Amino acid sequence: MKTVTLHDKTFRLLLRAADIDRAIAGMAERMNRELRDARPLFLVILNGAFMFASDLIKQITVPGTQISFVKVASYSGTRSSGEVRELIGLNEDLAGRTVVILEDIIDTGRSMAHLLDHLRGKHPDRLLVATLFHKPAAAECHIPVDYCGFPLGNDFIVGRGLDYDGLGRNLPDLYVLNPTV
Ligand code: IMP
Ligand code: MG
Repeated sequence: MKTVTLHDKTFRLLLRAADIDRAIAGMAERMNRELRDARPLFLVILNGAFMFASDLIKQITVPGTQISFVKVASYSGTRSSGEVRELIGLNEDLAGRTVVILEDIIDTGRSMAHLLDHLRGKHPDRLLVATLFHKPAAAECHIPVDYCGFPLGNDFIVGRGLDYDGLGRNLPDLYVLNPTV
C-alpha cells in the first residue's frame, strides 16, 4: 500500500493523480459548455486551490475568461468574540459578472459561507462554487456546490494542494489519514 509520512503522521493513498485529472477534465468540459457566453471570472482561493485552479483553467476555452487570486486571512478579533475573516487581493469589480469560486475543499462549509456572504455584497450576476473535494457529512452550513470533483468522507486528507501543517501540498495524488471506513 502506498503511504506518505508528513511530520509525525502516515497517510495512505486515496485517489491517484490520473483519476483526479480525469475529474477535473470533466469539470472543465462542463464549464466550457455551461459558461460559454458568461465571460467568467475565476476566483482562486489561495493557498489550497492553486493546483486545482492551474489544472482546471488551462482546459477552459471560454472567451473572456479572467482569473483572480484571493486569500482569506483569518485572525481573532480583538473586540468581538468571533473570528474575523478578511478577503485579500480582490481588485476586480464583480458587479454583473459570472464569478466562479475555485476552492480545494469544502469541509464544514464555514469558510465558503463567509466568502459567499462577502461576495454577494459585491453584486455579481451569478456566484458559482467549484470545489475539487467536498465532505458533505461534515456540513455545518448549506453550501450550493455547482461543480464538485469528489465527494469524500470526513477523514483528513493531504496532497493536490492540501496540506498537513505546511507539508504535502506538492503531492499529485491524494492521501488520507486514519480512514474510518
Ligand atoms: P471549512 O471552513 O470547514 O469548510 O474548511 C475549509 C478549509 O479547511 C479548507 O479550505 C482547507 O484549507 C481546510 N481543510 C478542511 N479539510 C481539510 C483536509 O481534510 N485536509 C486539509 N485541509 C483541510
Ligand atoms: Mg483552503
